[in-house]
Amino acid sequence: MQASPVATIEKSRPYLGIILHTKPTVETAFMLRCESLTQTYLSGGRQLTVLKNITFSLESGGFLAIVGPSGSGKTTLLGLLAGLDRPTSGRVFFDDVDLTLLNEDARARLRAAKVGFVFQSFQLIPTLTARENVQVPLELRGEPSESRAQELLTRVGLGERGHHYPAQLSGGEQQRVAIARAFSVRPKVLFADEPTGNLDAKTGATVIDLMTELNRELGTTLVLVTHDRDLASRARRIIRLADGAIVEDTTQ
Ligand SMILES: Nc1ncnc2c1ncn2[C@@H]1O[C@H](COP(=O)(O)OP(=O)(O)O)[C@@H](O)[C@H]1O
Ligand SMILES: [Mg+2]
Repeated sequence: MQASPVATIEKSRPYLGIILHTKPTVETAFMLRCESLTQTYLSGGRQLTVLKNITFSLESGGFLAIVGPSGSGKTTLLGLLAGLDRPTSGRVFFDDVDLTLLNEDARARLRAAKVGFVFQSFQLIPTLTARENVQVPLELRGEPSESRAQELLTRVGLGERGHHYPAQLSGGEQQRVAIARAFSVRPKVLFADEPTGNLDAKTGATVIDLMTELNRELGTTLVLVTHDRDLASRARRIIRLADGAIVEDTTQ
């Protein structure tokens, strides 16, 4: 027997009520959301799908580790979440802005305003001192930079090393300068791609400790790519990729 229109409306009302009631709060609480992200490259005349239907949300102030074997799509995913690249299909919302609707320039502006990066290879400018490296993002914004850079270097334990050039610093020290630089403009989200990949285990742990502390102190949302299980276990949430798909999503 067919249900009458009235009965159908009555039945659907509680369901609608839940959706309408909960949706706004849920949306504003997320710093990052991605929906059905797919990335396909043309490689040697063949289509290579390196990310498949990735959907998840991360709350503001969250700490997520993305893990998975080499080639599983971790760096590609990070690039899409940070607005460095655009997905083949699907959407990415950064602080409720749909990145897939923004052009290259608009994404660059958003990154400069809200995103910090830490890379495996540190990426410091070799001809600038540690302090000048930390000052760069602030200078680009036209903000006073010297005392803030000094304060950040002190925070990462390098207050006395500001006048040293990258080549005069150890790997761990260079990465701490890179972290100070990434935090200089108080980013909403810090993306770190294998930040401990070039460091020994002990130095790597110190670097992750530092990022964890800054995540707590400043409420910065942290997205860390690593294949080190111990380091990943410091995150509150772990997403595991295999072959471009999410195979595990755990919160601890
Ligand atoms: N620009 C590109 N063109 C073609 N293939 C790419 C490109 N970027 C990444 N890939 C491929 O996508 C897959 C995932 O790469 P990546 O995201 O770097 O993995 P991971 O960071 O997990 O090691 C790899 O097979 C890689 O070769
Ligand atoms: Mg990678």
